[in-house]
Amino acid sequence: MQLDTITNTKLRDWVAEIAALCTPDAVEVCDGSQEEYDRLSDLMVQKGTYIKLNEEKRPGSYLCLSDPADVARVEDRTFICTKDEIDVGPTNNWRDPDEMKATLKELFTGCMKGRTMYVIPFCMGPLGSPISYTGVEITDSPYVVCNMRIMTRMGKAVLDQLGPDGEFVPCLHSVGSPLEPGQQDMPWPCDADNKYIVHFPAERSIWSYGSGYGGNALLGKKCFALRIASSMAREEGWLAEHMLIMGLTSPEGEKKYIAAAFPSACGKTNLAMLIPTVPGWKVECVGDDIAWMKFGEDGQLYAINPEAGFFGVAPGTSMHSNQNAMLALEKNSIFTNVAKTPDGDVWWQEMTDDAPPRLTSWLGEEWTPDCGKPAAHPNARFTAPVSQCPIVDPAWNDPKGVPIAAILFGGRRSSVVPLVNEAFNWRHGVFLGSVMASEKTAAAAGKVGALRRDPFAMLPFCGYNMGDYFAHWLKIGEREGAQLPKIFYVNWFRKNDAGTFLWPGYGENSRVLKWVFERTTNQSEAVETPIGFLPASGAINSDGLSVSADAMEELLSIDTGEWKAEVEDIKEHFKQFGDRLPQGLMEELQLLEERLSKA
Ligand code: GTP
Ligand code: SPV
Ligand code: MN
Repeated sequence: MQLDTITNTKLRDWVAEIAALCTPDAVEVCDGSQEEYDRLSDLMVQKGTYIKLNEEKRPGSYLCLSDPADVARVEDRTFICTKDEIDVGPTNNWRDPDEMKATLKELFTGCMKGRTMYVIPFCMGPLGSPISYTGVEITDSPYVVCNMRIMTRMGKAVLDQLGPDGEFVPCLHSVGSPLEPGQQDMPWPCDADNKYIVHFPAERSIWSYGSGYGGNALLGKKCFALRIASSMAREEGWLAEHMLIMGLTSPEGEKKYIAAAFPSACGKTNLAMLIPTVPGWKVECVGDDIAWMKFGEDGQLYAINPEAGFFGVAPGTSMHSNQNAMLALEKNSIFTNVAKTPDGDVWWQEMTDDAPPRLTSWLGEEWTPDCGKPAAHPNARFTAPVSQCPIVDPAWNDPKGVPIAAILFGGRRSSVVPLVNEAFNWRHGVFLGSVMASEKTAAAAGKVGALRRDPFAMLPFCGYNMGDYFAHWLKIGEREGAQLPKIFYVNWFRKNDAGTFLWPGYGENSRVLKWVFERTTNQSEAVETPIGFLPASGAINSDGLSVSADAMEELLSIDTGEWKAEVEDIKEHFKQFGDRLPQGLMEELQLLEERLSKA
């Protein structure tokens, strides 16, 4: 679309300002049409960024191999800029807004030379929803445009909704790789050694430079829908969370919605699309990564999925582990850093029981099963439309959102933490969220496997001081007339001494979901322990599972000694927040310590 199709004054001024700064060869306003998507995809095929997949096997789909130095979020290059350093807290990288703007302006000067600058109007959440917000991303990456078309409601309808004076969050992105006249472009341009993922919460804006990958570049996702939105949510009294949303229907036909926060690559997409093994139960998917929740007039929290697509971890996804994801990505999908089969389809670790004899790896190299290297990068991703998920919830696009009956927290803990426990009350639930810990995964650059505290799965995504974030969660619970969800903590990842998972996970997690569902109305049995309510013996049915009675016992009990050590570690964790740690959480810690000492 032409520039003069923009009637919004603020947007027109911003686009002119950025065009003058970045000096692209051309400016295009994205309309979100299939024609535009196809044209940009063809362009990327010509440039070598994309490989068109076999139309019979994977219709309308493309493979993209990134620069090997640009494969995941970069938490050490992610910054929050506030006037006072204390306002970003101990878990974020702080920079002074004026100094950072000066650095960025220098980097962005002329950075789009030789490229087209795309203007992407997008809506996070259903069009017309009181829970949704609008953003506009300016980018020089056609890969970003195509991904944003799947991941968000994008294009002309959003511009129309914005109108002449609507508000939007400006999201500026460049791969940071200007082209001199005649210079040959790279298949995946980036500035690998010079990445900046920068947030200005006070002015609600985002500047991202140097990376073209995932959450670094698709700015509606982590940058807007979590970091900026968490800060907006605090100001406005709602919640922006790293949570899946699912509908769960009992054999009697009663339906409840559950939201669940697990850190990156810890099972949100899998749980959101689970096929229950418990007969008669049904799961439907609203979202797999982010939830925005606002109070309705009835005092319940209503959640929307701000996204319209899945940007899911490919390795490990199979017809066994996640059939619904496999069906969602059968067509019209983008695959980044997976391997290619000789007949032009995709493959990744565990997609099939046996690896194909020959592949082209994510590095573009010849690959054989014995070559000793992974065929797909561990953080390889698929981008697929939510609407293609066979179990998409009928209300996934409902502007009202869905009422949340339970919230789950969880992470990868090979020891200490039981399969499931229920918080005594909201404040105790907030405590459970605040002390979440998980072993690090490949979703972010850095060492995999190390245990780290990841409160609410928001460690890399909270746009302000995490202590203030805890206080915000406590305040939500004090709202008059609030009909609050019950809070639970789950752990699918407990291991035995030999290092194998004690719990089969995946579809079998429905056994835990059933208990959770019934607990929301106090129908299933629980026992009180120092850490919360645990399922009474037999309350989680283990019939037909290859889980020994001993393993079941280990999964559903707590070791007082281990928990006392955990308390000491939590004290260290809490210390970093100083006087921003709400007193209520300190009290919860003391109560836990007292209960353990009496146990
Ligand atoms: P992000 O998209 O990074 O936020 O990740 P996610 O939380 O959606 O994680 P995802 O569902 O993609 O799971 C990542 C990996 O966790 C999967 O590929 C599996 O290997 C593993 N996983 C998921 N669910 C389970 C489970 O119930 N048990 C076990 N043992 N592993 C699981
Ligand atoms: C995550 O890391 O939690 C993701 C992938 O969902 S990314 O969009 O790259 O952040
Ligand atoms: Mn995520």
